[in-house]
Amino acid sequence: MKTIAVLTSGGDAPGMNAAVRAVTRAALARGWQVLGVRNGYAGLLAGPPQPLAARDVGGIVQKGGTFLGSARSLEFIEASGREKALSTLKKLNVEALVVIGGNGSQSGAAALARDGFPVVGVASTIDNDLYGTDVSIGADTAINVTLEAIDRLRTTASSHQRAFAVETMGRDCGYIALMAGLAGGAEVIAIPESPITPAEAAERLRAAFARGKTHALAVIAEGAKCGIGELMQQYEAKREAAGFELRVTRLGHVVRGGAPSAADRILATRLGAAAVDLIAKEKHGVLAGMIRGEVAATPLAEVAGRTRPADAALLELVRTMAL
Ligand code: F6P
Repeated sequence: MKTIAVLTSGGDAPGMNAAVRAVTRAALARGWQVLGVRNGYAGLLAGPPQPLAARDVGGIVQKGGTFLGSARSLEFIEASGREKALSTLKKLNVEALVVIGGNGSQSGAAALARDGFPVVGVASTIDNDLYGTDVSIGADTAINVTLEAIDRLRTTASSHQRAFAVETMGRDCGYIALMAGLAGGAEVIAIPESPITPAEAAERLRAAFARGKTHALAVIAEGAKCGIGELMQQYEAKREAAGFELRVTRLGHVVRGGAPSAADRILATRLGAAAVDLIAKEKHGVLAGMIRGEVAATPLAEVAGRTRPADAALLELVRTMAL
């Protein structure tokens, strides 16, 4: 009987629970034993992991967050931290580890693979900025949460002829803002990948009202150069001349919470099961992701330290649609 361990690491993402369930049940179906590590890599440096049975992962497919807990472990970045983790895994006779998480987590997985431990990553981050997958677990739900907020804000924006600026998550990548803004008919989108200035953003909001619109919406990723603070400053400086009122909503961690969408549950189930298949085939040191609709394994050495930017070419389409 093979023993594998599974952990969730980094920012939690809706669908992580579905992925843990998939890893567990796909492994149990092969007659393996599964250990659930609490609180990400930090759990490998703390107490012993818990054996997971089929019923332990029951009733969680629809729940957001991760019942295993997650953390961003700084200790793990150091070789000494990894040594401790490796000795824990060896003591427990763990033959392979599944790491469900985003960029930082997969860089940690790549380091473990370099140290010679069999590890398989599962692509999971609401930011959808992992290299080696077209789509990561949690991104679809995060877009839909942001979209719902945009739709709701537009209701009141129209009633009061106001502009709204909505800030969504995305420190280094503007995927959520771009996709939710495209789906929500935003007048302006500002993301880390785009050079839009606060003056341009404010002007585009003004021009939307001048074209006869009853509302104008800016969707801003938290890491955009034109942040919500800069846009507000620009607006305040020319408030009298602006001719419209601008209000701000910061969604923050609301974007990461709540039940995963059907798409995220399906993705998590496919990728979790694929990770177990990869271990069975002894294809270690890879990330299980989805490329052109098919499960694909990309070496963690290629994934680590790289990001996948949002498609800034779509910003032109957003502009045309805002006419
Ligand atoms: O990487 C996912 C993410 O939600 C980013 O969009 C965001 O910038 C960051 O995590 C926030 O991290 P934390 O929850 O640690 O504050």
